[in-house]
Amino acid sequence: MTDLSKVTCIEDLRAMHEKRAPRMFYDYCDSGSWTESTYRANSADFQSIKLRQRVAVNMEGRSTKTTMIGEQVAMPVAIAPTGMTGMQHADGEILGALAAKTFGIPFTLSTMSICSIEDIAQATNRHPFWFQLYVLRDRDFIERLIDRAKAANCSALQITLDLQILGQRHKDIKNGLSAPPKLTLPNILNMATKPAWCLGMLSTKRRDFGNIVGHVKGVENMSSLSAWTSQQFDPRLNWGDVEWIKKRWGGKIILKGIQDVEDARLAVESGADALIVSNHGGRQLDGAPSSITALPAIAQAVGKNIEVWMDGGIRSGQDVIKARALGAQGTLIGRAWLHGLGAAGQAGVTKALEIIHKELDLTMAFCGKTDINQVDQGILLPGTFPTASQQ
Ligand code: GLV
Repeated sequence: MTDLSKVTCIEDLRAMHEKRAPRMFYDYCDSGSWTESTYRANSADFQSIKLRQRVAVNMEGRSTKTTMIGEQVAMPVAIAPTGMTGMQHADGEILGALAAKTFGIPFTLSTMSICSIEDIAQATNRHPFWFQLYVLRDRDFIERLIDRAKAANCSALQITLDLQILGQRHKDIKNGLSAPPKLTLPNILNMATKPAWCLGMLSTKRRDFGNIVGHVKGVENMSSLSAWTSQQFDPRLNWGDVEWIKKRWGGKIILKGIQDVEDARLAVESGADALIVSNHGGRQLDGAPSSITALPAIAQAVGKNIEVWMDGGIRSGQDVIKARALGAQGTLIGRAWLHGLGAAGQAGVTKALEIIHKELDLTMAFCGKTDINQVDQGILLPGTFPTASQQ
């Protein structure tokens, strides 16, 4: 068991993740596209927002409980869909789903996961989770994926709208990113320095893309994610597809990857239940604004008609409360939970959630609030936060 007793922040987990996981998978998580300026801005722009401390306010009996699309959550945080998670740690998606279930927050499984939809349903005793859908050229496969998500008791479908083509991440190309990893000499030498990771991988059968391999004609393995993506992801994706998917699914829909007010209005027209202000963790269009900067204009324009959430750059509970103050009913974390997973499996994810929860709870109290549902822009210092007119 990894000792987590001295872990006090997400940065501690990040450093442990970097040590424990092979370079190619750690880099896949900790990188953005091209110059990584949007990736860095996602976190940096949270830092310049200042909080108003209040004193002599009764801080007893606090609650961070709220709802996301009507589901009760222990805090306004859900686990974001992240690709290849089962390569950060053996059976990673199962461990993340179990930690989220115990903590009382939603878990989202990526189309590009290593553990399959069915693996998650079985491991969590059919506890509801969310499934993230990439729109692929093969519509029969999409229909089957939707049906599999329904059969697995998924309670919402998250459609990603910002990855019809893949942003270029230099490190992935240089590392020859693939699942399972290619046994080149540099990869073997690097893996030899990661014994705990290797032992985990040897003890699981899940080392490939569980939702895809064996379910798509002609796909027996997917050594190159980027080659497969460029062939299979549908560059023609449009709002008509969203309508078709919504009809076929028949349940709650979350649209992920909105950055622009015009697209946010189209998201409302599509009848979706929530939208996620997101730039895909700075992994797609480098040079796009940080999510926290894009949030206020979108929340102001459509926040009354659809639930507005955000992801990108969240590494602490302070970031969560700032997003909430700027109009996000909920947030999603990607790297923050992957660092916990890569550091110490399920216990590491639980630790990451505990850290974020504690930071959120204490910050809320310092700002003079006892209920997350009372938090609004008033907790922020005027002049330090992005506004709707700045987008
Ligand atoms: C896939 O979602 C990626 O960002 O690599």
